[in-house]
Amino acid sequence: MVNYDRILKLSLERGFYFPSSDIYSDSPAGFWEYGPNGNNIKNKFIELWRRELVRRDEMVEIDGSQIMSKNVFIASGHIDNFSDPIIICNKCKAILRADKYIFEKLGIIVPERLSNDEIDLIVNEHNLKCPKCCSDFHKTERFNMMFKVGIGPNNDEAYLRPETCQAIFVDFVRIYKTMRGKLPFPIAQVGKSFRNEIAPRQSLLRLREFYQAEIEVFCNPNQLDNISKFEDINKTNLTIDDGLNVYKITAKEAVERKIIPNKLIAYYLTLLYQFYEKTGLDMTKSRFRKLSDQEKAFYATVAFDLELQTSIGWLELVACNYRSNYDLSQHSKISKEKMEIMDPITNEKVLPHVFELSLGIDRSIYSIIENSFSEDKDNNRTFLKLKPYLAPILVGILPLVKKPEIEEIAKRIYANLKKDFDTYYDDSGSIGRRYRRLEEIGVPFAITVDYDSLIDNTVTIRYRDTMEQKRIKIKDLRCFFNENTII
Ligand code: GLY
Repeated sequence: MVNYDRILKLSLERGFYFPSSDIYSDSPAGFWEYGPNGNNIKNKFIELWRRELVRRDEMVEIDGSQIMSKNVFIASGHIDNFSDPIIICNKCKAILRADKYIFEKLGIIVPERLSNDEIDLIVNEHNLKCPKCCSDFHKTERFNMMFKVGIGPNNDEAYLRPETCQAIFVDFVRIYKTMRGKLPFPIAQVGKSFRNEIAPRQSLLRLREFYQAEIEVFCNPNQLDNISKFEDINKTNLTIDDGLNVYKITAKEAVERKIIPNKLIAYYLTLLYQFYEKTGLDMTKSRFRKLSDQEKAFYATVAFDLELQTSIGWLELVACNYRSNYDLSQHSKISKEKMEIMDPITNEKVLPHVFELSLGIDRSIYSIIENSFSEDKDNNRTFLKLKPYLAPILVGILPLVKKPEIEEIAKRIYANLKKDFDTYYDDSGSIGRRYRRLEEIGVPFAITVDYDSLIDNTVTIRYRDTMEQKRIKIKDLRCFFNENTII
């Protein structure tokens, strides 16, 4: 089975992603950049998310600021609560993230809401020492993970957003009114968020600057079971782990058996699941894990993580949080703006509640690459079995030999197809090596132009996964690629 290091090697060698500021000795950890192939996959993933969630569910999408005022984060609770526990060595002053160190040394999971005193108890009871100099630690402290910035010549205090969604909450009333909203009213946003992680690690898996695709569904708390679209999604089985049992059931059964608290949550969890099915991830390796009270973020009353089993263990891809009216009531309190709106369906004035799908794009990209990694030992090749609509390049165009008349046809095909498809022209090296290079980055098709092309206007199409080859008329290529990129 492929492991994390193999995927990292492939990514570095083939331009999927690599560390930022890499030629300098002071390059900070936790900042990674997408190269051309990774960037293409990321953009296609976002387009799929738009198609399968935003457009499918008739959501609206915004693009908010990355820097927001201090008051935003006083209201959101991030200034007081968005921190990780740290332990500092008495002697060498090494700083460690307490929960991670405890897990590493003892295998004990430290829940998000455990107090400093409770963490100290674990550290003392198990006599944990500094891994560098074996000394004792100070008492547990908290480290706020937001990046503070200074605006203008007065250095006015503001922050890089630690989650994209705060702009959605602050702008909610304006958007609801200008878009003539009706509850439930989902607002989506894709963009970067920033967290000053104490121990960023494993490339795309724990970054200080990362991409989120967030959806905040504003809803009437008295209408959570009145979801007209609910029946449409009821054929999909979800795997749900509620901490006691693991169920494989539909959204409807999950609501009836009170494993999911209401139809609105069940509906959006299913939509999310169906979106990930389309990415090609092996969803038999996924689960919605219900978080215990101690694990939930400070703003959540109910929370499910969509997790995927990967080579490094279960990986959280999406945090699904029922945030109640926490954010709107906090912003209303601090800004003194009214945030209630009219629900035109029930004709009542409500302060909406929010159910959130907070998707980590970078982790999803890693998972898609890892999941698609395939080894064909018989033919001594590795390839990425990416869906054609997620592949960084759809088709490689390869003249079989360097003959002007063959190259001319190949270049004509290239010029025609590149207008609408991600296309790559490659005339260097043996044909076998050229196929391997394409397969390694997941290109699903290769066109070979050969001597027969001169006679009958056909080319060979070669399929990445099976290596099958078939002849096709040049005039039918566009149609072929349109058909083979249908989602
Ligand atoms: N908005 C939820 C999160 O960033 O985890």
